[in-house]
Amino acid sequence: MRQKRVVLLVPTTTYRLDDFLQAATRLDIEVILASNRCRVLAAAWPNHFGLSLPFSAQREAVAKAVAMLRDKTIDAVVAADDYTTILAAQLSAKLHLHGNRPESVAKTRNKLSLRRVLAGGGLLSPKFFVIHIDSPPEPYLSRVDFPVVLKPLLLSGSRGVIRANTPDEFVAAFHRIATLLRHREFFQMRSAAAKCILVESYIPGSEVALEGLLTNGKLRVLALFDKPDPLVGPFFEETIYVTPSRLLPETQREIHAAVSQACKILGLQHGPIHAEARLNEQGVFILEVAARTIGGLCSRTLKFGAGISLEELVLRHAVGENVDDMLRLTGAAGVMMLPIPRSGRLHAVHGIEAARAVPYIQDLQITIPLANLVIALPEGASYLGFMFARAETPAQVEKALREAHRKLHFDIQPALLVQEQ
Ligand SMILES: Nc1ncnc2c1ncn2[C@@H]1O[C@H](COP(=O)(O)OP(=O)(O)OP(=O)(O)O)[C@@H](O)[C@H]1O
Ligand SMILES: [Mg+2]
Repeated sequence: MRQKRVVLLVPTTTYRLDDFLQAATRLDIEVILASNRCRVLAAAWPNHFGLSLPFSAQREAVAKAVAMLRDKTIDAVVAADDYTTILAAQLSAKLHLHGNRPESVAKTRNKLSLRRVLAGGGLLSPKFFVIHIDSPPEPYLSRVDFPVVLKPLLLSGSRGVIRANTPDEFVAAFHRIATLLRHREFFQMRSAAAKCILVESYIPGSEVALEGLLTNGKLRVLALFDKPDPLVGPFFEETIYVTPSRLLPETQREIHAAVSQACKILGLQHGPIHAEARLNEQGVFILEVAARTIGGLCSRTLKFGAGISLEELVLRHAVGENVDDMLRLTGAAGVMMLPIPRSGRLHAVHGIEAARAVPYIQDLQITIPLANLVIALPEGASYLGFMFARAETPAQVEKALREAHRKLHFDIQPALLVQEQ
């Protein structure tokens, strides 16, 4: 039988590469890495033929990929991260492969489009409007029912997401996000949406994340994660995710139904999805639906069938295998994304061994090298690392993660941050 071949679209900032490559190796699938800076990746992973694509010029990137792949049979195109989902859908469509329509994926990548589509489709939605970063925010105050959340339209990982409870906080949050969006990092984002701020009414309640797999429009829940830390702002850093969820079965069914409905309204059909939702007495509010797997190293909490990884499951599904009977292994698992407590230079991390020694802790990875600058939310875009636990019950997992986190001490020293224009 011919070896299957998958194009994996990875931004150079990805956390996801190693897990996808390992999965591909185990499955004997050939991976063609497509990245926005392949010289670096090519040096690091010389066994993989790399495509260097200009991710910020999508049409050009697709044309270049199609031209370079014309002599090869491709079985699937997989996006490793948010940033590459639209490109993956476009390339998939051009190569006549099974995937999502690019227009559907594009709606998931713009928080205003997502809100409009979901609210228009009858799902519960906060009230919302947008402001351009060059407009003064004060005239909008008359429209605001506090509390609200302000956020950029195109960023992810809670970057630039700020709650405001008062007019002063609103104006301050607006300027803080506007400053972030004027940073040169975002110059290449030429769309008008990159210069807009979404204002949404604050949705009270608890939060969950759903990892799912769509097959011809039908959603299978691979895992539902509770987020046991209160996410009440002013910034919304992710910390602990635990699965299986401790919510009542009927609440879990409501979440499944709402996410299924969201996928349907968006027109998402095939492949992995990651959704986040808030729940309160009104019902399920969808915060996000993305056509990709869970971010960071968090997928390492999940094992299926005889112990296969989420990436293996997704790659098998992508090349057309039936994975319906590969269920998540029983038992509870969780991850803590280690938040950056303040910005500065990461000088030392103490207590790693003590944290690893806490019962049920399986692994701890510090993902930022010592001496690097770390930037806290809302401006930052990364975590200090990831810590994993596995136990019989979700409560044991949560307790272990908290206890292990208390053993860690991050020595972050003030750094002279050069103001970039
Ligand atoms: N309207 C809201 N009400 C309450 N909390 C919110 C609201 N919008 C966002 N949040 C909080 O902020 C977090 C991040 O917001 P959101 O998911 O919209 O942005 P993101 O994570 O940066 O982008 P994406 O999820 O598209 O990658 C949410 O997980 C939630 O905790
Ligand atoms: Mg989110």
